[in-house]
Formats: sequence, structure tokens, C-alpha cells
Amino acid sequence: MAATNYAHIVGWGIALPETVMTNEDLAAIVETSDEWIMARTGIKTRRIANDRESTATLGLKAAQQALDVADILPIELDLIIVATSTPESIFPSTASLIQDWLGAGSAGAFDLSAACSGFVYALDMAAQAIRSGSIKTAIVIGSETMSRVMDWQDRGTCILFGDGAGAVVLQARDTIGGVLSSVLRSDGSGHDLLGIPSVGSLDIQISALALQGRKPFKMHMAGGEVFKFATRVIGESLEQAAIKAGITLRDLKLIVPHQANERIIQAAARQLDLDRQLFMTNLEHYGNTSAASIPIALVEAIQQGRVTENDYIALVGFGGGLTWASIIVQWSGPLGENRFGPQRRQFTYALAAWRARLRRFIRRYTDLFNRIRPKHGRMLRLRKRIEQRINDI
Ligand code: ACO
Repeated sequence: MAATNYAHIVGWGIALPETVMTNEDLAAIVETSDEWIMARTGIKTRRIANDRESTATLGLKAAQQALDVADILPIELDLIIVATSTPESIFPSTASLIQDWLGAGSAGAFDLSAACSGFVYALDMAAQAIRSGSIKTAIVIGSETMSRVMDWQDRGTCILFGDGAGAVVLQARDTIGGVLSSVLRSDGSGHDLLGIPSVGSLDIQISALALQGRKPFKMHMAGGEVFKFATRVIGESLEQAAIKAGITLRDLKLIVPHQANERIIQAAARQLDLDRQLFMTNLEHYGNTSAASIPIALVEAIQQGRVTENDYIALVGFGGGLTWASIIVQWSGPLGENRFGPQRRQFTYALAAWRARLRRFIRRYTDLFNRIRPKHGRMLRLRKRIEQRINDI
């Protein structure tokens, strides 16, 4: 194990759908008002994915931006983790799709499910892999299309959520800094307080859900309970993570909390006796984008110049599970020399798209080919050559 590996954040990106849904738009769907939503949540607008946008396409966009900032080619990635509660499929993972579209041929890829804490959990997994010396470069993506799992008749949930994605690139460096400490927690006794019922034990579940007024693949939440839980755990886990990093909360230059509700953030600031301005918020514009909310807020904080070299910053997430998690990061110094221009990167993306198409074509072609039982030596040799080509790509 290399003791000098630190996991530094060296790239970042976001992707937001263009369609904006206002509180007034919502008031036309459910019995609510701009005044109620603003007063109870602080949310004014949220973004909604169109028919051509999905968790994977938004995640891909954010990942490409993050790779651009990091000046890293997809082939240099060792690991891709997508934190999401709205994956493209239960399996295969959204991360595998993004791996293919990026052309990240040397990377492992998987999705991570920890609801709104997912991005912090995923960042910790990737950072641990780097610190252990097992990998050098990883991308962590939080991507969601919450609009697709909303019950648009439930005013207690549909007013809160939005779509979007954020990503960061982590890389091993031998200078002290990057991800310093983490605290991951879960209390499964609260698993029925919020969730999206899926396909497991469907027969049993469908009738149970109906009794509780819940719908498969639609989100449900006991808002008040989650509110109390969130205000309790934010302070607790931030303090634990700070102690593990050997700092105090007073040393923090920025806290990026999960963007759920302005009142939750105000309560946490009061409880910790910290200035509310220390907490980055953009929930007014995007609502709660679940696992994407922390990376989106982090990237906007960077773009607003709120983070400089060596600053201590904290990320804190909470949500379904119940889960909660905090991470302390010491912000990294300037990025290295620009090695690859935008053209080179665009070329690698175009190449990845062609390679993916070619692989699918060859796979289909060999399938067909395999069904015709080759009798002659020439046919057998041709088949072997094609199989060899597939393995080479
Ligand atoms: N518009 C108008 N009235 C509403 C609405 C609405 N959209 N929603 C609820 N109401 C009504 C209720 O029916 C209730 O009316 P009643 O008093 O006549 O019964 C009243 O407003 C108060 O309802 P509460 O649910 O008590 O409202 P509260 O102040 O708790 O706010 C909210 C609700 C915004 C959902 C809040 O509880 C909350 O933000 N909870 C936390 C959610 C959260 O943080 N989730 C994070 C994790 S998400 C994840 O992991 C995927």
C-alpha cells in the first residue's frame, strides 16, 4: 500500500435540463401556491428533463465537463461510480452506459444507491480506493431524473424535486489534501419514511403498497419525520467528520449540504452556531435533485469563487435509507499543465461512439455467424479471426 496517496478533486462539471418548472406551473397541477412552497422550502424553480434527456445523458454531460476541467482522457479512468435513485435500469448500471459512451475502456463501473446521501457515499468509496493505492483516477457522478418517479398528484413531494447531474474527478497525488475524512451512517429502521418501491417481492408488495396508499415506482415521503431526522443528523455528522480530519467546524470555509429545504439548512446553522452564509445553497433554482444536489451546489460554489487552495470544505448528505454522510475536503492547488486540447477530447468521444457501435455490430454479426455451423476450415478460420478482433477492440 502506498502511504502517500491522497485523493484530490481535480475536475468538476454539471448538467441541467433546460426546461424550467416554476411554482406557478405546479399550482396548475396540484393545490399549492408559490407563497406556500417558498415559505416552507425556499424553492422557486426546478429543472425537468425532456424526452431526450435521462439519468445517463445528464451524467455523461457532467462527466465530460469534469474530465475537461481535469484535463484527463476517459481512457485514464480506473473507476466510474454513479450515485442515483433513478437509474436507467435496475441493471445494468447507468455507470456502465456512461463508461461505454465515454470510451473509458480501462474503468470499472457501478451504481451506488444511498438516496440523497449517495454522492457523499460514492465520493468516499472512490477516495478510499485511491488512498489504498489500488486505483489512480476515478469519476464520481450524482445524476437524477426525479421528475420520472414523482407522484404528480402528491403535493407533499412533487413540489420538492428536480432533475440534474454533477460530477467530480478524483486523482491520486502525493501532496497532503483532498478527501481527508468521512462519516457514513445508516438507520434502516426508518426505511419506510421515504422511498421508491421497486420490483422486489412484487406480489406481496403491491397489496401492501395499496394499503398504505403508495404506488410502485413512485416516490413517497413522510415529510415531517424526514425533516426532524435531517436537522438532527447534519450537525452530528459534520462534527464527527471534522474531528476525524483533525479540524474544528470553525476551520471550515464552506459547507455544501444536500439541497432539500432552506429551513433544514437554517436549523442546522443555528444548532451548530455557524453563520448561515457558510452554507452553499442553490435549491431556490433547482429544488432537491437528490444524489445530484451536492455536486451541483459544489460546482456552482467553485464557479462563484467560494473555494480557494487549501480551504477546508465539508459536504453533508442525508436521505432515504435512512442514510446520512459527511466528508471533509482540503481543497487542492492549481491543476497541472494543459495536456489535451478540446479537439483531442472531442475526437476521443467521437471515437468512443464509433467503437461502441462497431462492437455492437460485430457482436450481432458473430451471433448470426455462430448459428451457421461452420463445416469448412476456411469458415472456421474466419470465425476465429472475427472473435479475435472483438477481443482486441
Ligand atoms: N402546498 C400547500 N399546502 C401543502 C403542501 C403544498 N405543496 N404540502 C402540504 N401542504 C399542507 C398539508 O396538507 C398540511 O395541511 P393541514 O395542516 O391542513 O393538514 C400543511 O400544509 C402542513 O403540512 P406539513 O407536511 O406539516 O408541512 P411542512 O412544513 O412539514 O413541510 C415539507 C412539508 C416541505 C415536505 C417538509 O416536511 C420537508 O421539507 N421535509 C423534508 C424533506 C426532505 O428533506 N427530504 C430529503 C431527503 S429526500 C431523499 O432522500 C430522496
